[in-house]
Amino acid sequence: MSKRIGVLTSGGDCPGLNAVLRGVVRAADNLDWKVFGFVDGYEGLLVEGGDFIPLTLARTAGIMQLGGTILGTTNKGHFITKVGDGSSRTHVPPEVIARTKKTLQQMRLDALICIGGDGSLTTAQQLHEEGIPVIGVPKTIDNDLEATAMTFGFDSAVACVADALDRLHTTASSHKRCMVIEVMGRHAGWIALYGGLAGGADIILIPEIPFEHERVANAVRRRDAEGCLSTLIVVAEGALEKDGQKRMRAVAEGESKFGGVGQAVADEVTARTAKETRTCVLGHLQRGGAPTTLDRILGTRFGVKAVELIAEGKFGHMVSYLDYQVLSVLIAEAVHRIKLVQPDSQMVQTCRHVGISFGD
Ligand code: F6P
Repeated sequence: MSKRIGVLTSGGDCPGLNAVLRGVVRAADNLDWKVFGFVDGYEGLLVEGGDFIPLTLARTAGIMQLGGTILGTTNKGHFITKVGDGSSRTHVPPEVIARTKKTLQQMRLDALICIGGDGSLTTAQQLHEEGIPVIGVPKTIDNDLEATAMTFGFDSAVACVADALDRLHTTASSHKRCMVIEVMGRHAGWIALYGGLAGGADIILIPEIPFEHERVANAVRRRDAEGCLSTLIVVAEGALEKDGQKRMRAVAEGESKFGGVGQAVADEVTARTAKETRTCVLGHLQRGGAPTTLDRILGTRFGVKAVELIAEGKFGHMVSYLDYQVLSVLIAEAVHRIKLVQPDSQMVQTCRHVGISFGD
């Protein structure tokens, strides 16, 4: 039977979202289904009659290689279920749920695909519990969801970090400087770890392995003594000093974001080694631009699988990449489970074996 399905992108954007949308539309078209994309995430559900774009083959042609999301997104608004740094929770109010149901009825939608990170999937789970037929698609450049081995956007972010390190490498060695680059990763250091290894970093600081400034300085001194006069340090924004606190900066009244640890590391290196040091905060460059081939493929596979899950009636599930297969898991079992870098993992050991210091 022909179906009408809604799709939305929610939370922070990342490369690969458009690949998912295109995958959804193509798989749905094969089944003769219609797809409607809500504008600005869940917020599009609150507009009378729905604020949506009909997603056709023509509308989604040529979007796979575009970063961002053609639907728009927000990590604010009426559907927030996680607040602050994500550790406090709240619920979507009943009137918002009622309005959502009304929109879905008005548009005669059979299902809603919610593409988002942990917070947006927590919202999706609540909608599911309220009787809305929801399918989740996990998204985060941070790659920190336990229920999926990988999320699209991560590989593109890693490529961005590696590219930045390649550039910093040449200028660092010309000037014999120490370059500190702060990258995303609030709770998990995946981007720093993978980007750092791929870009030839000498020191990588991640939230999972608390560091000491003196050990970082020692690693710099050791390199200098060996005649390696430039040093590249990658610092995850959530990197933690031993016995210290995560560094936050206020961005608006009552709102703060991670940031500042890169500069703090640079200042300490200069103070302790007299080495000339520069800092670069890579920021949202990691979230922009075209997705890598891997993210295009993963995004497409996720989109196609989401449609398959609707056909099978597996509501309350989200797609997940496990053992090289795109499978599904219950959203309820996937949310609030953060995947952290294990300090004794093979990946960390490999880094140590090629001489990378974690400042521990
Ligand atoms: O969770 C993804 C992420 O990119 C984090 O790595 C980063 O700290 C945060 O989002 C930035 O959020 P915003 O786009 O609101 O500044």
